[in-house]
Amino acid sequence: MLLIMPAATPPTPPASPASDYVPVLTSLSSVYSPQTLPSEEARWTHLRTAFAAAYPGEAITFVARSPGRVNLIGEHIDYSLFDVLPMAISQDVLIAVHVGAKDGMLKLQNTADAYEPREFEVAGLRGYKIDSKVLEWSNYFLSGVKGAYALNDNLEVPSMHCLIDGRIPTGSGLSSSSAFVCAALLAVRTAVAATKLLPTPVTVKALAGTTSKSELVKSAIISERNVGVNSGGMDQSASVFGVPDHALRVQFSPELNVTPIAFHGNEFAFVIANTLVVADKHVTGPVHYNLRVVETTLAAEILAKQCGLGALPVRDGFGGTLRGVVDAFEKSRGISFDGVIEVAKRVFVKKGGYTLAEASTMLGVPEEEITQKYMTRFPVRFERLQLRARTLHVLEEARRVTRFCDLLAMTPTPAEIDTYYASLGAIMLSSHASCRVQYDCSCPELDAVVALAIANGAYGSRLTGAGWGGATISLVRKKRVEGLVDALKKEYYYKHFPGISEEQLAEAICVTEPGLGSAVVVTW
Ligand code: GLA
Repeated sequence: MLLIMPAATPPTPPASPASDYVPVLTSLSSVYSPQTLPSEEARWTHLRTAFAAAYPGEAITFVARSPGRVNLIGEHIDYSLFDVLPMAISQDVLIAVHVGAKDGMLKLQNTADAYEPREFEVAGLRGYKIDSKVLEWSNYFLSGVKGAYALNDNLEVPSMHCLIDGRIPTGSGLSSSSAFVCAALLAVRTAVAATKLLPTPVTVKALAGTTSKSELVKSAIISERNVGVNSGGMDQSASVFGVPDHALRVQFSPELNVTPIAFHGNEFAFVIANTLVVADKHVTGPVHYNLRVVETTLAAEILAKQCGLGALPVRDGFGGTLRGVVDAFEKSRGISFDGVIEVAKRVFVKKGGYTLAEASTMLGVPEEEITQKYMTRFPVRFERLQLRARTLHVLEEARRVTRFCDLLAMTPTPAEIDTYYASLGAIMLSSHASCRVQYDCSCPELDAVVALAIANGAYGSRLTGAGWGGATISLVRKKRVEGLVDALKKEYYYKHFPGISEEQLAEAICVTEPGLGSAVVVTW
């Protein structure tokens, strides 16, 4: 369980301009909050020792880091290009890198024993084909390498000897994979820049301006798809753009833009509880995540066809989006967001879903062409496409994000504060209900933890991330946090996992706060 304690009304920094560069820092206190600093200092000391053991006689040139994220509201709508509201957490992936070896190798070692060392010749990296069917930890690093080539095809990747240390539980819905890909991409870019400086020691000044945040995000989004999940861009945006003590309103259309949003008051906390049900998008993609992307894309294309909206803008070479549908309705017909929801209900009348043959008739495109275009790179399995339910979830969830952000922009008086939190909480609860019923991305354990949170004083609670396992986020008054934590232990963890070890419990129960995004650290 992670507790997010917002600081007392911090000032809202300006929106991050697209040209912002990933910071290069020299002290851990610039990376972590005072609360997490002591344990992070110990961890980084251990990283040095472990590096010396892994690569005797070699010094760490720099460390690239990228954090996980938790999403407050806006689930499964990023790939439809609607705004979302995540925040970076303090748990992160560190990649300690030595550059300057002359062996022409990319060496990867991991502080966790479960991940065996891997080696690749750097000369073969440009054309390396990642096999997305194989569940292999180094694929995430290699996705980052692909992303670096996508930004600069002439890149000369130098010898890199790396030690990876990840603290985001995998499959927890807190985005360990995107954090890893972003950190790897950043590590490669920084290694290229650092190599050019050798034998002069690398300095902050020399590395500053190496990687633009928005370039890093855009490239990481595309390159992470090499591991077989057709994901949106929320995780990478939060990981790279994170701002301490702030949520991030991430906009994808008309272009990527991230606005930090402060919280009002410091009487409440967000409690994040990992159900410990591992949600692996890579394994279940064909029936879960990738299928949802296909359903929402086809729904958009069919709405455009049925309503004569013309061709929709295409997202990342895949297909039209529901955001494109809303924009087209607004521009060409003056139809409001709520109006589009009504239109969607009239177009998708079948509550039981549509066969591929029915979808093909509505779209006026042969089944084989649909299969080839939308279901081949990321294969899916289904009997019926749930076009109505998925569309309604996406549109209603997008409306919830706007309402949530509108509330966060208000300054409640002390007398209003309870109603204020209750309103935020109600939006979170209706998001969870929609994820459960219309998007079918919850599971009994997530529902149980949400119900327990509400029964123990939370204002609101919902699954966070892709769902089908992973974590929940609950909005709670600080004075009720302890009671909630006790109840979750007693009623959830000990009951569902009777043999749970202290170590596992410690991973499920820890404290974090909205934290800094990606960074490069030298000479700390
Ligand atoms: C995963 C994906 C994100 C987003 C969420 C659901 O985390 O990587 O792009 O779609 O699921 O909101």
